[in-house]
Amino acid sequence: MTKETTPVRLSDYRAPDYAIDTVSLDFSLAPTATQVTAQLAMRPNTPGAPLVLDGDEVKLIAISINEEYIPSSAYEATPQQLTIKAPPREPFTLEIVTEINPKANTKLMGLYLSNGNYCTQCEAEGFRRITYFLDRPDVLAVYTTRIEASKAAAPVLLSNGNRIDGGDIPGTTRHFAVWHDPFPKPSYLFAAVAGDLGLVEDSFTTMSGREVALHIYCEHGKEARCAYAMDALKRSMRWDETAFGREYDLDIFMIVAVSDFNMGAMENKGLNVFNDKYVLADPDIATDADYAGIETVIAHEYFHNWTGDRITCRDWFQLCLKEGLTVFRDQEFSSDERSRGVKRIADVRTLLARQFPEDAGPLAHPVRPEVYSEINNFYTATVYDKGAEVIRMLKAILGEDGFRAGMDLYFERHDGQAVTIEDFLASFADATGKDLSQFKLWYSQAGTPEVTAEGRYDARRQTYSLSLKQSIPPTPGQQTKSPMHIPVRFGLVGPNGADLAFTSATGGGVEDDVIHLTEAAQTIVFEGVSAPPVPSLLRGFSAPVKIATGLSQTDQLFLLRTDADAFNRWRASQQIAIQTLIAETAAVRSGAQSKLDPAFVDALAEVAEDDSLEPAFRAQILQLPGEADIAREIGHDVDPAAIAGARKRLMAMVASRIGKRLAELAERTGNVGDYSPDAASAGRRALANAALALTVGQAAPEAIGRVVARFESADNMTDRLAALSILASNGFEERIAALETFQDRYRDDPLGLDKWLMLEAVVPLETTLDRVKALTTHPAFSLTNPNRIRALIGGFAGSNQTQFNRPDGAGYDFFADFVLDLDKRNPQTAARLLVSFRSWKALEAGRRALAEKALRRIAASDSLSSDTRDIVTRTLA
Ligand code: ARG
Ligand code: ZN
Repeated sequence: MTKETTPVRLSDYRAPDYAIDTVSLDFSLAPTATQVTAQLAMRPNTPGAPLVLDGDEVKLIAISINEEYIPSSAYEATPQQLTIKAPPREPFTLEIVTEINPKANTKLMGLYLSNGNYCTQCEAEGFRRITYFLDRPDVLAVYTTRIEASKAAAPVLLSNGNRIDGGDIPGTTRHFAVWHDPFPKPSYLFAAVAGDLGLVEDSFTTMSGREVALHIYCEHGKEARCAYAMDALKRSMRWDETAFGREYDLDIFMIVAVSDFNMGAMENKGLNVFNDKYVLADPDIATDADYAGIETVIAHEYFHNWTGDRITCRDWFQLCLKEGLTVFRDQEFSSDERSRGVKRIADVRTLLARQFPEDAGPLAHPVRPEVYSEINNFYTATVYDKGAEVIRMLKAILGEDGFRAGMDLYFERHDGQAVTIEDFLASFADATGKDLSQFKLWYSQAGTPEVTAEGRYDARRQTYSLSLKQSIPPTPGQQTKSPMHIPVRFGLVGPNGADLAFTSATGGGVEDDVIHLTEAAQTIVFEGVSAPPVPSLLRGFSAPVKIATGLSQTDQLFLLRTDADAFNRWRASQQIAIQTLIAETAAVRSGAQSKLDPAFVDALAEVAEDDSLEPAFRAQILQLPGEADIAREIGHDVDPAAIAGARKRLMAMVASRIGKRLAELAERTGNVGDYSPDAASAGRRALANAALALTVGQAAPEAIGRVVARFESADNMTDRLAALSILASNGFEERIAALETFQDRYRDDPLGLDKWLMLEAVVPLETTLDRVKALTTHPAFSLTNPNRIRALIGGFAGSNQTQFNRPDGAGYDFFADFVLDLDKRNPQTAARLLVSFRSWKALEAGRRALAEKALRRIAASDSLSSDTRDIVTRTLA
C-alpha cells in the first residue's frame, strides 16, 4: 500500500520540543543484523511534551531512560515512530537499541552495503533508518561513534570527526574504532563507513599552519585513479581560504568512493561519501568532462564544510541556503581554475537544459519551496542551479566588496547554527545597508521571468532609448506574480564593435554596466550616444530569465562576431541557430522546402577558425543546439521527429558548406600530444571533436571514415568517446563494430561500461527500444546500481528524443514499466528517472495522450513509494 504522506508546510514550522546535546552511537556491524545503540543526552525545550522520534524500517530492541528500562506502556513503537509519552522534565539520557539490515537496504538510504562495504547516506531523512531520532536539521548534537566489525571483512572503520580510539577486541576476530566530532551537527551529516578499502594519503597545511591529513578511500586497485581528486581537493581547500577566508577545522578530511550511490556525493562532516564516478579518473577511463565534473563535485562537497555543515539549514525548505550557495561557490572555484567565460557558458547550458524546463512544466517550484510531500524530490535543478543564479545576482547587485562583507557577516553571526534564507539575506542587508525585500521574491516566485527589450535610436538627439518589460508566467499554485529585481548587465555595441560611451542614463536603474530592472516596465534614455548601437543585454547571463531582444539576424551575427562579452557572442550564435531550427522544424512539419540561411553557417566557420579565440570557446560555438534545446524553445505542440528532421537538414548543410574546413580544423587542433586533463588541452580536444561532429551531416563515407579512424587511433577516453558518440548519435552502421570494441575494452570497468550503455541508448533508430530492453538483462547492467540505471534508462528517456517519444508510445510504456519495477527497490532513483516526463504537456496531441496514459498507469499502481507518488501526482496535475 502507498504510504500516506501529509504534505509538510514551511508555515507550520515549529522549533523542536527537545534538544539533543550529545549522541553516542555504537555500531555492531553484521550484514543482515546490525545492532545500533544510541545514547542521547536529551534536554527538554518544552518540558512534559511527548517525545516523538522518527524512524523508518527500524526494529526496536531495547529502550531505557537514565539507565533504567522503561515499561512498554510508557512508549509506543512502530517502524516509523517511537513516542515516549511522558519523558522526564529534566535533562535525561535516552538509550535506544535498534536492529537494522544493511544487506536488505536497496533504497541506499541509511546504512547499506555497496560491493560488500558498509556505508551510510543520511541526507535528507536517512538517519531515522539507523536509529529513532529527532531527524531534522535544526537538532544539532556532538557525536561520538564507536564502530565494531569483523577485522577481516572491515579493516577500515570510519566516522565523522577525529579518531580517538581503536584496537582489537581480545578473544574475537573483531576490532573497533571510536571517532569524535566536536562540531555540533544535524543527523543528516552523520556518516559511517566500514570495509576493505584502498587508501591514498596526502596532507594539507591550512592558512594558520595546521596540518590536516587527507585520505581518499576506494576499491583496492583503484588508488592510482584518485590522484586527480586529491589534487582537486587540495586546490579547493586553498581556494576557500583565499576567496572566502574559510579554513578547514578538523585534523583529518576523508573521502570514500562507493559504487552504489543515489546522488553525486555527500558532504558528511569530515567524511564525504562519493559516487565513485566523481572520484576515479585516469586518461583511459575519464573524459575531460569527467575530470571537470570531479573537480566541481570535490570542491562542492568540500565547500559545504562551511556552507552546510558549520552553518546548516533550519528546515528542509531552506535547502537552497546550502545548495544554491555551494553550487555558486563551486562554479566560482572552477571559473578561477579554468576559463571563466567558457565555464559560464557551460553552466548556463546546464541551467537552460535542466532548470528552464522544470520551471516551465508541472514540477515548477520556487527556489525555496513552501510545501513538500517528499523532500528527496526537491534536490532539483531549481534549488541547486537557479539557487546558485540567485546568489550570483546578489553579488551583481551588491558588488564584489558588498557581497564579501555580507558573506563574512553571515559566517560570523551564524557559525554553529541552523538558519533560514531570512537570516542569510539579513547578513547582506546589514552589511551593505541595502534593502533586499524585492530581491527576496527570487526565493518565493517560481517560473522563469520573461523580459522583452525594444530600443530606438534618435540620431538627431543622439539618444538611445531602451524599453524593458518583465512578466513571470503562472506556475502551479502561483497564478499572479510581482515584478522582480532583475540585474541586466549590458553594453551598447557601436558599429566598430566597441562599446559606445554615453553621457547619462535617465529613467532610473542604471549603475555602471547594470540596469536594475525592478518595475514591470522601464524605459531608460541614454544620452550622448554617438552612433546607433546594437544592445548587448544580459551579458554573462546576469539573471536567469528569458530575453526577447527582437534583434534581426544581421544584428545577432554582428554580436556573434564582435561582442566584447564572450558569453553574449555564444548566446547570439545559439539564438540564431535556435530561430533557424524552429523555422526549419515548421518547414519539415508542413512538408516545405528547406529555408536554411547559409550566412549563419559561414559565420560559424569563421569563429571556429579564429585562432585568436580560446579553443574551448570556439568548441562551445560549434556545439549546435540539441533536439531538447529546440523542443524547449518551441515550448508547445512539440513534434520530436520534426525537430530531429530539421536538425538533420541543418547538419547536412553545415557538412556540405563548411565540412571540409572543419575537418581540417579538427586535424590541426586534434593532436594535442600526451594526454593531460588541464583546461587548455581539454579545450583543444573539445574544439577538434566539436568540429569533427559537424563534418558527418551528409553521411559521406569519407567523413564517417575519418571518425572511425579517430575512434581507432584515440589514446584517451575523451577522443575515443567523442568519436564513438558521433557514430552512435547519428545512428551510423559503423557504430555497431565500434560499440562492440568499446564494450570489450571496458569489460571489467563499470564506469567505462556506463558510457557504452549510454551510447547504446541514444542511437536515434527504431531498433533502439528493443536494444535497450535487451540490455536490461545484460550482465553489465544491474537493477541495483543507480549509475547503470541512469546510463541506460536515463540515457534513453533523457537523451533520446525521438525514440523515447516514439509516436506509438512504446518508449513511454517500457519506461513506465521500468520505473514501476525500480520503485519497489529504490524509490529515490525511480522518482528521479520519472522526472523525464516533466515536459509531457508541451508535446503534440498524439504523444501527449500516450505520455499521459503511461503516467496514469503509474499513478494507478497502489504500491507506489511516496517519492514516485509525489512526482507522478504533480506531473499529472
Ligand atoms: N547534499 C548533497 C549534495 O548536494 C546531496 C544529497 C542529496 N541526497 C538526497 N537524498 N536527496 O552535495
Ligand atoms: Zn550540495
